[in-house]
Amino acid sequence: MIKIAVCGALGKMGKEVVEAVTQCPDTELTAKIDIAGGEFKTIEEAHKSCKIDILVDFTQPKSIFENAKYCLNNGIKIVIGTTGLSDEQIAELKTLSKEKNTGCLIAPNFSTGAVLMMMFARQAAKYFDNAEIIELHHNQKKDAPSGTSIKTAAMMAEVKEDFTKGNCPETETIEGARGGTSYSNIHIHSVRMPGYIASQEVIFGSSGQIMTIRHDSMDRKCYMQGVMLAVKHVYENNDFVYGLDNIL
Ligand SMILES: NC(=O)c1ccc[n+]([C@@H]2O[C@H](COP(=O)([O-])OP(=O)(O)OC[C@H]3O[C@@H](n4cnc5c(N)ncnc54)[C@H](O)[C@@H]3O)[C@@H](O)[C@H]2O)c1
Repeated sequence: MIKIAVCGALGKMGKEVVEAVTQCPDTELTAKIDIAGGEFKTIEEAHKSCKIDILVDFTQPKSIFENAKYCLNNGIKIVIGTTGLSDEQIAELKTLSKEKNTGCLIAPNFSTGAVLMMMFARQAAKYFDNAEIIELHHNQKKDAPSGTSIKTAAMMAEVKEDFTKGNCPETETIEGARGGTSYSNIHIHSVRMPGYIASQEVIFGSSGQIMTIRHDSMDRKCYMQGVMLAVKHVYENNDFVYGLDNIL
């Protein structure tokens, strides 16, 4: 049995992970950790009392880096769903994971449909000169743009250096109107609204044609297949993985 601790266990995602881990015949939930009053308030507290093979973290951007470092420094494998890690922090975790020979998997999006959207976007990027991303989330999401949109742009940038071909020089009369500029000049626009869970559109354009790839998460259960695949991967390997696409 794989012994799992869930960090952020009282949160929207954490609750789903607790249920998925409890229902899976190969995993055992050994600790529910949450600063808001879980069984344990910190990873350290849980680690002193329980055996943990893998910690699954769905907390918040300002906590995740320290949580991940604690796990890797203490030989606990980690699956990270929490978004908001910077490129530098991801690079540091990669180094630490290798140094400690302890598995670490980070996925900005565990929904298999969303990951396929990213893979299709990379495939399409080769054939279109222009592309922009709109990501739409519930209004309690703390970071913007979403980790998924950043990862999508990074994957598209693998095949093209500039997605603003032919655009005239621009002036914003309202700051931010053109969104944030990411990899290969891909503009990312973030919408925050009650009602959405997580949606994203990747819009491609070239002379005479527009193509849109869209994915909508209707329910947080859509992430659980990916989370459990990640748990299995991390249990069987000690490598560092960024992105669910690498294990599909
Ligand atoms: N990778 C994915 O597929 C995916 C999908 C959805 C959400 N997310 C990300 O997961 C994170 C959590 O999302 P949510 O909607 O469940 O948020 P949420 O606010 O509902 O839950 C977060 C929980 O974490 C707890 N928490 C915060 N800091 C903590 C710490 N240091 N130690 C222990 N517990 C702590 C909070 O008390 C809360 O219960 C966010 O970063 C979000 O962007 C990722």
